Amino acid sequence: MAVVGVDFGNLGSRIAVAQNRGIDTITNEVNNRTTPTLVQFNDQSRSIGESALSQYTRNVRNTIGQLKVLLGRKFADPVVQHEMKWVPFQMVEIENGNLGICVTFQGEERIMAPEIILGMLFGQLARTAQGFLKTGIGYSVVSCPPYYTDYQRRALVTAYRIGGFNPLRVVNEVSAAAYGFGMYQKDLPDSHDQKVAFVDLGESCLKCSIVSFTKAGMKVLSSTYDPTLGGREFDRTLATHFAVEIQKKYKIDVMSNKRALVRLLASCEKTKKILSANPQAPLHCPCIMEDIDVSLMINRSDFEEIAAPLFAKIKGPFEAAIEAAGVTVSDIAAVEQIGGAVRIPKVQALIKEVFGQDPGRRLNSEECIAKGCAMQCAVLSPKFQVKKDWKVRDVNPNGITIHYTQKNVDGTNGDVEVSEIFSFNNVVPSSKMMTFKNGEEIEITADYSDGAKLPEGLGSRIGTFKVEKVKFPQGGKILDAHVKVKVKLDDNSLFLVESATLEEEVEVEEEKKVAKKVEEKKDEKKEEKKEEEKKEEEKKDSEDAEMKDAEEKKDEAPKVDAAPSVEEVEKVLVKKTRRTPLKIVSDINAPMTEKQILDALEQEGKMVAHDQLIIDTAEARNTLESYVYDIRPKVRGELAEYYKEEEATKFVSELDAMEEWLYEEEGENASKSTYVAKYTELKKKGDFAINLQYEATHRAECIKSVEGNVAHFTNWAKSTDEKYAHISEEDRTKVLNKCAEIQAWLSLQVAAQESKKKFEMPALKINDLRNKQDELYKFANPVMSKAKPPPPKEEKKDVPKADEAPKAEEAKAE
Ligand SMILES: Nc1ncnc2c1ncn2[C@@H]1O[C@H](COP(=O)(O)OP(=O)(O)OP(=O)(O)O)[C@@H](O)[C@H]1O
Ligand SMILES: [Mg+2]
Repeated sequence: MAVVGVDFGNLGSRIAVAQNRGIDTITNEVNNRTTPTLVQFNDQSRSIGESALSQYTRNVRNTIGQLKVLLGRKFADPVVQHEMKWVPFQMVEIENGNLGICVTFQGEERIMAPEIILGMLFGQLARTAQGFLKTGIGYSVVSCPPYYTDYQRRALVTAYRIGGFNPLRVVNEVSAAAYGFGMYQKDLPDSHDQKVAFVDLGESCLKCSIVSFTKAGMKVLSSTYDPTLGGREFDRTLATHFAVEIQKKYKIDVMSNKRALVRLLASCEKTKKILSANPQAPLHCPCIMEDIDVSLMINRSDFEEIAAPLFAKIKGPFEAAIEAAGVTVSDIAAVEQIGGAVRIPKVQALIKEVFGQDPGRRLNSEECIAKGCAMQCAVLSPKFQVKKDWKVRDVNPNGITIHYTQKNVDGTNGDVEVSEIFSFNNVVPSSKMMTFKNGEEIEITADYSDGAKLPEGLGSRIGTFKVEKVKFPQGGKILDAHVKVKVKLDDNSLFLVESATLEEEVEVEEEKKVAKKVEEKKDEKKEEKKEEEKKEEEKKDSEDAEMKDAEEKKDEAPKVDAAPSVEEVEKVLVKKTRRTPLKIVSDINAPMTEKQILDALEQEGKMVAHDQLIIDTAEARNTLESYVYDIRPKVRGELAEYYKEEEATKFVSELDAMEEWLYEEEGENASKSTYVAKYTELKKKGDFAINLQYEATHRAECIKSVEGNVAHFTNWAKSTDEKYAHISEEDRTKVLNKCAEIQAWLSLQVAAQESKKKFEMPALKINDLRNKQDELYKFANPVMSKAKPPPPKEEKKDVPKADEAPKAEEAKAE
């Protein structure tokens, strides 16, 4: 199971995987590292990511984007109301004031929640990763913008689960990038920290974090944002400007036509990018509406002028981050940039104005968030041994205030107390303990501290939590009692009431074993005792010194030790702290219940299977259609001689009928099995001639090959070469006979084939020829390659005896 990280971007999302060799970003089906955060609904199926983008302008009303901005917002939210002017799809209010997105899918009008649609995008990312990794995904970490409230984070986790992910953590996207950055820094100082500012200007939000790094870990000192600033705002500003120009020059109102607006925005984005590298840029928008091609120009200084209100807001989050971190500009060692829109030259200049230095490029702006998430997931996973001791301290930029009250004994509501339990830029995770008097039900309501500080429109309510009416547990005299409630801001910056415990100081009667003098209790043993005392006295005389020690010890030890005793159970009063866990009833503001999430998950599974069937069906139709176009000219062309005239005519008319059927309603929308059956049927007829053609074109060459083999083995068997001298006459005869047999068969078959027409089933088939050739080889080759017998061994000459040798020598000398 792989461990992955997901950067959920408003324009595009990325997924990275932690593997033993490092962290890699996964490319999608068209080899891009970023997958468009777009989902399109069509007549039959959905198109997600790249395919949604490529067909965007064909079906604008059913192509859903801006999901990061819309997630976790109510319909009445001013941001949603503002978006309606720009997005091509329709939005409506559904139950609880929630936002519903209207789409036409499979011929039906449907209303879907943003988290369901986002779940589809996440599902696509998961499938891309699984396809790349050839394995399932285990745990994962997903990023979100720092401003996301508790409700939005829960909506994100919901979507993430619907997409089939198993979320281990939701992290601030800038912190994720900083995490990846810090992990790879080898030169962090020992003695002091190094402070780095991270600036992210993506599609939908400007973010800034100041992070302190040491060898031991990283601390996020501050995290600020402005969700009204992002690349899309510049596109919209340009679009507004050009709409006026277009009206003047071409007399058309592009703002009134959603398809035209989508085209204009896409062109403005291109123009904006060109302006980042050039002093002027064209705006080309072919066929924007009413078949009009738009062509205009803009220069960079004009762009900076019309976008001045946006540029004026850029410095705010940077300055706020510096102030919240309690640092000065000179404390900041470096500024690192993330996000596509940070490339705008004016943005670069404003960063330099605030921080006194150009932003660095040590981060891979496109991939760093996904990689940071994957790395964090690897550290959390027991499967990887990576810098587990590198500590991370993140902050939550939104303070949380609780209102709490305890009912009076008469059932009336008690006074409401207010406390900011987690302040602005509070460390995550954090927990706080609250103590209440024992008694009646406790109610806690959690809200974001200062609603005005949250991005516009986001509800500040987190949830209400009731601690059940406290019942006195049985037994004991209660000296003191109170309720301890632990509230937590968890690793995902989610607020929760983690536990509630009744703590009681009680005096309870307990049984205790006590030693008692035997004489007091057991009269019947008095005699024995007397005897013992006697013995004691006798000892006294002889063990003076020892006795002295014993006396001393007797003083320290309980009195009962002084005399023989027995243990007895006695009731005593003991003070104790008794802890009883109490039930908490949480009513958290969340977009979906667990049951709804599971239902959505099941629905998504069905849709994925349906999408696959649609893809397979389209492929089957395509195969059938291509076959018709491919085989038809051949039937009258290169394959003509392999069909009888009437067969060819019949087949061509069947192909013509098939073509017609394919473009009729029935043929457009048939099932996969219908296409496959029709294709198989046609292919049988086409293959018949193709096979005959193959036989005809390869026959001569195969006959030649068999004849060649016959000649080869005949020559071999007749050879007088020394090499074959060991092959017996009998074996040679066998081979010659086999060659003659094969030759006779061949001559017979060739004669039979000569009388056949090209469109008739051949008498001599290629396969038979190959089999005969094999038969000959298998028969003749083992005979002719028999190994030569080894030469006979030389006889050993007699060795002269030892005593005879000198004699010979002597004889030689004479
Ligand atoms: N060279 C460039 N000049 C200006 N803007 C650019 C350039 N390249 C990309 N952008 C803009 O950057 C934005 C996309 O940035 P990015 O991919 O970081 O966004 P995102 O991660 O999807 O959004 P967010 O982080 O807000 O969720 C788009 O508005 C795009 O037009
Ligand atoms: Mg981003």
